[in-house]
Amino acid sequence: MTTKSPLKIMPISNDPGTETGPSYRIRSFVRRQSRTTRAQRRALAELWARFGVDSIETLNVEVLFGRYAPLVLEIGFGDGESLADMAAANPEVDYLGIEVHHPGIGHLLLRATELGLNNLRIICADAVEILERHLPDECLDRAQIFFPDPWPKTRHHKRRLIQPSFISLLVRKLKPFGQLHVATDCEHYAHSILDILSATPTLKNMSADNGFIPGSSCRPSTKFERRGERLGHKVWDILFARRDNQ
Ligand SMILES: C[S@@+](CC[C@H](N)C(=O)[O-])C[C@H]1O[C@@H](n2cnc3c(N)ncnc32)[C@H](O)[C@@H]1O
Repeated sequence: MTTKSPLKIMPISNDPGTETGPSYRIRSFVRRQSRTTRAQRRALAELWARFGVDSIETLNVEVLFGRYAPLVLEIGFGDGESLADMAAANPEVDYLGIEVHHPGIGHLLLRATELGLNNLRIICADAVEILERHLPDECLDRAQIFFPDPWPKTRHHKRRLIQPSFISLLVRKLKPFGQLHVATDCEHYAHSILDILSATPTLKNMSADNGFIPGSSCRPSTKFERRGERLGHKVWDILFARRDNQ
């Protein structure tokens, strides 16, 4: 069976290295060629209309969810299990997930349907472009990025999602006192993220000692995290909040 792609917002090149011209940007992801299962393909074709967000200019959050409620954005949710668990556990909160990986989106569509979630919407696109062009300022109560691609080699650090310019963009989307929660199992990235966030004057570290927070108690574990734990990786959680005035 052939299925229609859910991607309506923007075409993403499979090989950013060949891109040229004024719109060129170094992306934080490379589209993986992993297999989409038959169930995921069906989910993308049949369930996208229920949870997916297409063709937005400026996102109207109240129209999108049909109510006014606290809003959490998750960037790069992977297979979406932990996002679905959070949405199921907090029906009074709305969750918006952005991911580029089609099998992961298919997986989340299936899980969201199983759980009967009404408080979840999904965008299939580069989160940077969504923040730049489609998400209004001061709309988020929390942004969460769990295990962003670590790009561990020095020559790939420029691909890391969390850079000072990305953080200034993301902070503009937070409401005053809105929170930013990041977790990673890459020690170098953890310290780099802590440095970038600590150097952002509009953000305040919520940990008692201006360092990391104990993470496992305040969020479900993720697939990437569990894989790292099997390899003996440590995890660093980082929680900041936007100050009152920008
Ligand atoms: C290492 S995986 C972690 C997935 C999940 N958070 C977990 O912990 O299991 C990082 C995910 O971020 C997604 N990603 C990376 N850059 C992105 C971007 N600019 N916009 C949307 N998704 C992105 C990737 O497709 C990938 O699924």
